[in-house]
Amino acid sequence: MREVTPKKIREMKGREKITMITAYDYPSALLADKAGIDIVFVGDSLGMVVYGDENTLNVTMEQMVFHTRAVAKAVKRALVLADMPFSSYEVSIEEGVRNAVRLIQAGADAVKIEGGADYEKLVKKLVRMGIPVMGHTGLTPQRYLRLGGYRIMGETEEEIEEILRDAKALERAGAFAVVLEFTLADVAKLVTEEVSIPTIGIGSGPWVDGQVLVWHDVLGIYENSPPFAKRYANLNGVILKALQDYNREVKTGEFPSGEHYWEYQDKEEFNRKARNVLERINL
Ligand code: KIV
Repeated sequence: MREVTPKKIREMKGREKITMITAYDYPSALLADKAGIDIVFVGDSLGMVVYGDENTLNVTMEQMVFHTRAVAKAVKRALVLADMPFSSYEVSIEEGVRNAVRLIQAGADAVKIEGGADYEKLVKKLVRMGIPVMGHTGLTPQRYLRLGGYRIMGETEEEIEEILRDAKALERAGAFAVVLEFTLADVAKLVTEEVSIPTIGIGSGPWVDGQVLVWHDVLGIYENSPPFAKRYANLNGVILKALQDYNREVKTGEFPSGEHYWEYQDKEEFNRKARNVLERINL
């Protein structure tokens, strides 16, 4: 069992801020774990940032299992959380259970479900079975088509009520935490005060119990990132320069240079061996 458990995450509410970042492969998960991040999260955002899709609606269970396996192999300390992709849990509780089990068997410690009140029964069932669940409300990207794109949530009373009802339903069902995505900060604060489980915000301000960001946004892998995401590095520029240097050096013959290859010191010895080999081959 890894050191950071859902129980520990629950106990961090009000004591210590929770950190969470997405990771989709072995090397990034190794680094996230080494950095001391609490939750390493295989998000369905991989559809967009890894596979180049316009939204997350085409992400499959196969993709999630595949990436969860790679991440789980790398992480020793942090909690490994895996996202339930669109259509993997909405059709029936049975299907949701089967798919959650697949992610746990791929190495996840817990699963995340977008939505709250609509999935209270499923969350309850999973928790009873022993599968820890994190909920997700506010902006739920899997409802991209209904929402007509991505936008800030909580401007109307109806939206505030829906977000709060979701969070309370998740708490009741036994979820160990809830993501609040892209809500007005006051709404996130209200929810954080009203529920006993930790709230983990993304684009929802400082008055929450923790923060989650997407790997590519934190590291500046793309030229642009969402306005709420802080870029802690600009790897886009670093990677681009490295690739341009590599390309140029191969073209000019600068790479590989002496320290990157090995040759026979005794050329006579090599010529003798080569002659023998050529004779045998050309027989
Ligand atoms: O898939 C994802 O990356 C997410 C975060 C935005 C919370 O759900």
